[in-house]
Amino acid sequence: MIAVVVGGGTMGAGIAHLLLAGGHEVVLAESGADRVTAARDAVARSLAKAAERGKIDRSPESLLAALTVVDRLAAVPAELVIEAVPEDAALKHAVLAEAANACPDAILASNTSSLSITRLAAGLPAERVLGLHFFNPVPVQPLVELVRHPGVAPETVATARTWVEGLGKTVIEVNDAPGFATSRLGVAVGLEAIRLLAEGVASAEDIDTGMRLGYGWPMGPLRLTDLVGLDVRLAIAEHLAAELGDRFTPPDLLREKVARGELGRKTGQGFFTW
Ligand code: CAA
Repeated sequence: MIAVVVGGGTMGAGIAHLLLAGGHEVVLAESGADRVTAARDAVARSLAKAAERGKIDRSPESLLAALTVVDRLAAVPAELVIEAVPEDAALKHAVLAEAANACPDAILASNTSSLSITRLAAGLPAERVLGLHFFNPVPVQPLVELVRHPGVAPETVATARTWVEGLGKTVIEVNDAPGFATSRLGVAVGLEAIRLLAEGVASAEDIDTGMRLGYGWPMGPLRLTDLVGLDVRLAIAEHLAAELGDRFTPPDLLREKVARGELGRKTGQGFFTW
């Protein structure tokens, strides 16, 4: 299969890695020469890590031969498009509209973690649109949340499920709702952990250890917020607060840290120093 991934950040590069490792040809679209180079490097680094861990049976170099990174999406006979651009509804809608023209036979998937798939599909060939929500780090996390909206064709859902399962992931199907199932629960715990910290109930380290050792989470909710990005979490929380009410209102501490540029692992400082 030829697949297109739009956006070469953490998620897009991870999705490209996954598709290449699954034997597919991948066109990865970014904008600007620097980002094109950075996206290719990110996929190469990720494949190299997988090879070090014995998780792929072909060399990273041979897999990378099936990757084309482009500056602008032109016509491609792709069967699947996955957009993984920043969490901005207007941007995602524009990207999907462009992909609908460039790839007229493709299923159009959004990797959004909270935005309405119904609204993203409006004005597009909605029967081909659905949500495929991957988790960070994409090559490692075994889940994909498949999001249905009222206008999606059953065959789109069935085909997308088959492809995703072919990549070794487990699929859960959810109906379109703010934050779907996983972001709603994950963000709720993450925000509560930040409130506990702000109220001085326990240290960041102890809050995280509590959820790791008490609940079996692989990492605590604050370190996970650092990994995902405080800016990303803030954007999702603001969206969920607008859709679902005050229980998702972001704590001041989260806003303050984002304003200071403490975005988590990617800037070296979040709730922890990296
Ligand atoms: N291919 C590529 N990279 C791999 C890999 C593979 N097959 N296996 C591991 N790696 C990477 C890891 O990502 C990690 O990368 P960094 O060096 O950049 O940190 C590194 O190799 C070390 O991996 P290990 O498995 O040795 O490390 P670990 O045991 O500490 O596990 C972890 C790291 C997988 C991230 C684990 O802590 C974990 O599962 N954490 C929870 C992650 C989680 O909850 N993710 C969901 C986030 S929410 C989300 O994504 C949704 C959203 O919408 C925002």
